[in-house]
Amino acid sequence: MKQRGEKIPMITAYDYTTAVLADAAEIPIVLVGDSLGMVVLGHESTIPVTMDDIIHHTKMVARGNKNSLIVADLPFMTYQVDPSEALRNAARLLQEGGAHTVKLEGGENIAPTVRRIVQCDIPVMGHVGVTPQSVNAFGGYRVRGRTAQQASQIVKDALALEEAGAYAVVLELVPAPLSRLISEKLTVPTIGIGAGPDCDGQVQVLHDMLGLFTDFVPRHAKQYANLGQTIRDAFCQYAQEVKDGSFPTTRESFTMDEAILAELEDL
Ligand code: KIV
Repeated sequence: MKQRGEKIPMITAYDYTTAVLADAAEIPIVLVGDSLGMVVLGHESTIPVTMDDIIHHTKMVARGNKNSLIVADLPFMTYQVDPSEALRNAARLLQEGGAHTVKLEGGENIAPTVRRIVQCDIPVMGHVGVTPQSVNAFGGYRVRGRTAQQASQIVKDALALEEAGAYAVVLELVPAPLSRLISEKLTVPTIGIGAGPDCDGQVQVLHDMLGLFTDFVPRHAKQYANLGQTIRDAFCQYAQEVKDGSFPTTRESFTMDEAILAELEDL
């Protein structure tokens, strides 16, 4: 798609139903992101997400989506310790979860691990800029790459990932001009989130774009629907109708033969 000059849309999905909808919308890449820790599991960050969490949700997505490329995130500390452990965990996401490829965070520091996984025919998507698993080192989720030193490190990281065999690189919370530069330098596609319009593709977290998760709404997220409000309204109307007896009606109920009812009364 990059070679053809086509922009690449990617969204996250964490279950069967949203995976089916992403497939119907012909979204080419679906990410089972470790953002699931916050938007589905209710954690404060991605740090507590486990391999079992990601495998469980990747299975649901793989059952629902037959056409998109399914990418599963390697959770915190499942790939940093050593390349062999990373390879085993990456393989689990494909074998047990049904993902086609894996994503991991980091640049130059993680390039040998990317190389090892790619050598075993597991395609790897990289992720640089703000890497949420490093939230405790960064002290938050602020834009990275505004200083020359940070910007040059992000460029080196992206190049190191491409050189190690990554087939795409996510750029998260990076200034738009820096993303443009990296997208021009790399042969493989860049996928931006809060990284401006010049990346080769864009990724959004499903719950942000649908207005489902409101604990924290990132500035880079665009809300395409307000399903949170729609669902709240539906819940309120349902509760009201149960209380006032207007739900269920005969339409949602089932009849029974009068003769059998009479027999039952006799019994
Ligand atoms: O976990 C996730 O959803 C991600 C995207 C923000 C790229 O890594």
